[in-house]
Amino acid sequence: MEISHIFQNNQKWIKEKVKTDKDYFKRLSLSHNPEILYIGCSDSRVSAEELMGVQPGEVFVHRNIANMVPNTDLSAMSVINFAVSHLKVKHIVVCGHYYCNGVKSAMESADLGILNPWLRNIRDVYRLHKTELNAITDEETKYKRLVELNVQEQCVNIIKTPDVQKAVKERSITVHGWVFDIQSGKLIDLKIDFDTILESIMEIYRII
Ligand code: CO
Repeated sequence: MEISHIFQNNQKWIKEKVKTDKDYFKRLSLSHNPEILYIGCSDSRVSAEELMGVQPGEVFVHRNIANMVPNTDLSAMSVINFAVSHLKVKHIVVCGHYYCNGVKSAMESADLGILNPWLRNIRDVYRLHKTELNAITDEETKYKRLVELNVQEQCVNIIKTPDVQKAVKERSITVHGWVFDIQSGKLIDLKIDFDTILESIMEIYRII
């Protein structure tokens, strides 16, 4: 990949956009009202807009290694605060993906430096769901399930934030857990039962 190609691609893209709508970029600059906050992995194979088929302006995006939502991470917390309390998004999506190297690395016995505290959050997910995961004998199936459970736990972390707890009381906002399957290109809705999860955890995590 030549970096200069990117600028040629950009010129082509501008031409395509203004061919069908000459005011496309002018309109884009006038407002910012995305209805979805998407939190995904930084993995280059898992695009955000492209896999969802959405256009610029439609989705507010946050990506980091293994789509994590640690409640002490200033970046993730700022994104959630801005998206929920200012942009007033109606949906928050955590999208993980099978064959996530972040999830796999987290479970290996290796000193990964600055990545240790970041990925340790995934070991905590494993500990919470140890009985279920240890019962899976096939390694690939086990890692796929850990990817799904990590998405679920990050959704729970979203519900722990005061911004989301406040929004849930005041308006319609939904948290979704998805997984992207790199092998098939399919986006899978994990259909996480948030009502049941909320009922069981809110006595501990209720802030508002
Ligand atoms: Co990943």
